[in-house]
Order: sequence, then structure tokens, then C-alpha cells
Amino acid sequence: MNLIFLGPPGAGKGTIAQHIVDDLGIVQISTGDLLRGAVKAGTELGKKAKSYMDSGALVPDELVIGLLKERIAQKDCKKGFILDGFPRTIPQAEELDASGVKIDKVVNFNVPDDVVIRRITGRRTSKATGKIYNVYPECAPHPPKEHPKEDLQQRDDDKEEVVKKRLVHYKEMTAPLIGYYSKKGILVNIDANRALEEIIASAKKALA
Ligand code: AP5
Repeated sequence: MNLIFLGPPGAGKGTIAQHIVDDLGIVQISTGDLLRGAVKAGTELGKKAKSYMDSGALVPDELVIGLLKERIAQKDCKKGFILDGFPRTIPQAEELDASGVKIDKVVNFNVPDDVVIRRITGRRTSKATGKIYNVYPECAPHPPKEHPKEDLQQRDDDKEEVVKKRLVHYKEMTAPLIGYYSKKGILVNIDANRALEEIIASAKKALA
């Protein structure tokens, strides 16, 4: 099963994906994680991508498409994958279609802007496991009490002013994909402004 998770930053795409990949026996591919990996490794691509990411802009299509194609050609993707954060533009979606990859379903997670900003500024990622947590009381999941504080990292692009720019880019460049996949009849909408368990249950039902 090949899936796309669509939605604004902070919609919960990464969190939900982490909760369902094992059940489905498929892998999660986050282009954000791939790009952050390239930045950390100091590759040529990472150096080019960094300034776009830091400012909240999208990385140019040609850089991301190459990275994604390389990743989905790997052996662990044979049984299927969730694309988390790709495609982000119509040209990226067209390129995916042209490469012959069949997408079974696109799940679109809907969340209002104020919730996005709150969730993202409270997000922390475990350096050791990559697990996503949140330090605000109304957000979830919380890191366990005994979790070492120094393991929890805040992303550079999770500051409020950068998040607001990411939202603008989302609306201009990424939201048109809702219509693109709706026309193909493979789009499922999910209200992601609910408790995590409810969203996970809705996503599993939609994909059953
Ligand atoms: P990327 O890493 O993909 O960021 P994003 O799409 O902006 O998505 P996020 O990771 O911020 O949000 P999410 O929906 O996964 O939310 P999460 O589950 O963490 O991209 C980063 C950058 O890389 C981009 O800005 C761009 O520059 C570049 N890039 C990446 N892909 C690209 C592409 N294809 N083309 C061009 N450029 C690209 O949840 C957020 C927080 O909320 C967490 O703390 C979580 O614990 C909490 N939470 C989640 N759901 C709930 C809930 N239901 N209730 C309470 N709390 C919740």
C-alpha cells in the first residue's frame, strides 16, 4: 500500500504515521527528515536546502524529487510506504505520477492555523529515537517523566515566525494538491483537530 499524508505543518502527519506504519507493515518516508539528515551530514544537497528550510520556504522541486526517488528505490519500500511531506507542489505530484509509482490513497489532515502554531512551538523530537513529543499540556503525546531533557530537541524551523511563513507556503503551494488528488478520487479528509487516539482510529478505518 502506497499512501500520501497531506496537511499543513503541525497537522500530525509524522505522529500519525509513526502510529500506523507497523500495523500496515510499510515504512514512513518524511522528506523533511531526509532533508534534515542531509543538512546534518553536510552534503552538497543539505547545504543548498538549509537556507530554504530555515526561512520556512519550500526546497526547490529538483532537489527534493531526486532525494525522494532515491529513497523509494530502496528495498524496505517494496511492501509500501507513507509519503509524509511529499509531494508539496503540483510539479512534485506530476513527477511522482510520471515515475510510475501508484498511490492508493491520500489522507488529508485538516487543522486550523492557531492549533498548528500552538502544536509546532511545543513540539520536541527525541534525538535518540526520532519520536515526536509535545511539551504543552493540551498537546500529545507527552514525553515520559523520566525522559532525559537533553535528548529532546526543538527543530530550528519551529519558531513561531518561521511557522507562520510555512503556513503561507502551504496554502499557496501545497493546498492545491487537495484538488489534484480529489479529482483522481483517492483523497480522504480527516478532522485532525481532535484527540490523537480518535485521529489514529479514523485513519486506520479510512485505510482498512
Ligand atoms: P517537514 O518536516 O515535512 O515539516 P511539515 O510538513 O511542515 O510538517 P511537520 O513535521 O512540521 O508537521 P507534522 O504534520 O508532521 O506534525 P507532527 O506530527 O510533528 O518539512 C520541513 C521543511 O523541509 C519544509 O518547511 C521545507 O522547507 C522542507 N521540505 C520538506 N519536504 C519538502 C518537499 N516535498 N518539497 C519542498 N520542501 C520540502 O505534530 C506536530 C506536534 O503536534 C507534535 O509535537 C505532536 O506531538 C503534536 N500533535 C500532533 N497531533 C496532535 C493531536 N491530535 N493533539 C495534540 N497534539 C498533537
